[in-house]
Amino acid sequence: MQLRAMDSCWLAVVVACAACEDPAGAADVSAATATDAETQAESESATDAVVATADDSALPEAEAEVTAPVAPSLEGGVTLADENPDPGIVEVHLQAGAVSATLVEDLGPLPLYGYNGQIPGPIIAANVGDRVIVHFENALPEPTTVHWHGLRISDAMDGSPRLQEPVAPGGTFTYDFVVPDAGTFWYHPHVRANEQVEKGLAGMFVVHERERPAVSRERAFVLDDILLGDKGLAPFMADHMEEMHGRSGNVLLTNGHDVPLALTARQGELERWRIVNVANARTMEVAVQGAKWRVVGTDGGLLGWSYAPERLTVAVGQRYDLEVVYDQPGEARLVSYVLTIDDHNNVVDVPVALAKVAATASDVVAAPAIYAAPPLPAFDPVDLDVTLELTGAMGPNGLVWTINGMKDGMSGGHEMMLFEAARGANARILLENLAGPEHPFHLHGQFFQIVRRNGEDTNAEEGLKDVVLVPGMETVELRARLDNPGRWMAHCHILEHAELGMMGEFLVTP
Ligand code: C2O
Ligand code: CU
Repeated sequence: MQLRAMDSCWLAVVVACAACEDPAGAADVSAATATDAETQAESESATDAVVATADDSALPEAEAEVTAPVAPSLEGGVTLADENPDPGIVEVHLQAGAVSATLVEDLGPLPLYGYNGQIPGPIIAANVGDRVIVHFENALPEPTTVHWHGLRISDAMDGSPRLQEPVAPGGTFTYDFVVPDAGTFWYHPHVRANEQVEKGLAGMFVVHERERPAVSRERAFVLDDILLGDKGLAPFMADHMEEMHGRSGNVLLTNGHDVPLALTARQGELERWRIVNVANARTMEVAVQGAKWRVVGTDGGLLGWSYAPERLTVAVGQRYDLEVVYDQPGEARLVSYVLTIDDHNNVVDVPVALAKVAATASDVVAAPAIYAAPPLPAFDPVDLDVTLELTGAMGPNGLVWTINGMKDGMSGGHEMMLFEAARGANARILLENLAGPEHPFHLHGQFFQIVRRNGEDTNAEEGLKDVVLVPGMETVELRARLDNPGRWMAHCHILEHAELGMMGEFLVTP
């Protein structure tokens, strides 16, 4: 279901920016209803394909063959077919190009961008340790790169426009790397990302464990939002709110659909849900209703333990793996809490259904799944102390976002080197947010642990991450073991903040 006029812009208006109460930025698309029937049909037929389940052996042989030879499909999207017969190599073609997609019926088809003609892009799936070769072609009218968010690969393959000359329109590039960690990752452009990602360029990248937890099936949910006006995509950076808080959409998209996905399962089944938030700026608050659920994995892969929050905060760029057990027949829902204004003009926090799963009564009893995780790296002793002050300032051309008083060179020159470390160094990184808006901060090429928030121990909150949400005026302390050498980007994942300067680099020497 799409949002009506309200969304987190309003939160910003109400809570953070009392001076600018003009809600004009939040266009009303309440007439919006439909979804792209074609894409829907496509993803539904893909959904019918065989899934990664523990009981693949129980499938009739003809179907079992569909999954061979490598990464089986996940439900929730089209998994790119592996073109390479070598079981240790996944080789695919990926094209970024203009697409015409109907997200909202009244607006008709909109000129957007997609990977292989799809929004979101197809799922790329591999097994941990595989070599992945992506033959990329840029059919966009502008330069782009592909960044493999969360994959600890070499910097030359990371899609950083500082190391890789962006792929020109009509150009190609072969990304070739080995995936070192199992987990849920994603890919997106790193050139003018605030526009290119908003227009649809984002997809999930799944790296399966060698020993996959035995679950009834896996599902992928790519959570997004898009800001539409009466004539289609609202203009970029057209208002102060977008510069201040990032671009918050007024239509929620789940796997490219603005209506709740209609899914089915059986009572007693146990599923693994992979969730990624690919929105430009919207922090999502999600929950599962009508089924038992817990968090089993995060940015860095399976936790090896689990926790069961009431709601799960998913900052942009972050991923979570959930275990969902249909402990009763009936409807289970994936919901996202959204601030809206009720009939009495009160701001209320309502759960919007992103997906509805009809669980039919059955006597299936799924065996408990085992989510084994590799041991955590040692983060002690600390070899290096880094403090990064995140703030904003008014520049001659409007708002700029800075790290330690520096802003990314908007026209050429990217000199913002934040710190240097020798490979294997343990860094203590203090992120200090000195202003009101939140910053989901991202390090390329490394994982970290969140050890303290505002000086208080977090008990190594949430396992390994590569994005941490730093709320306004708060301080977060990380421990990062910098074991992947290279020149890496570090930036706010609110893509407008990054574009307006909050994007630097760090160096890990071999
Ligand atoms: Cu998704 Cu530079 O990151
Ligand atoms: Cu930010």
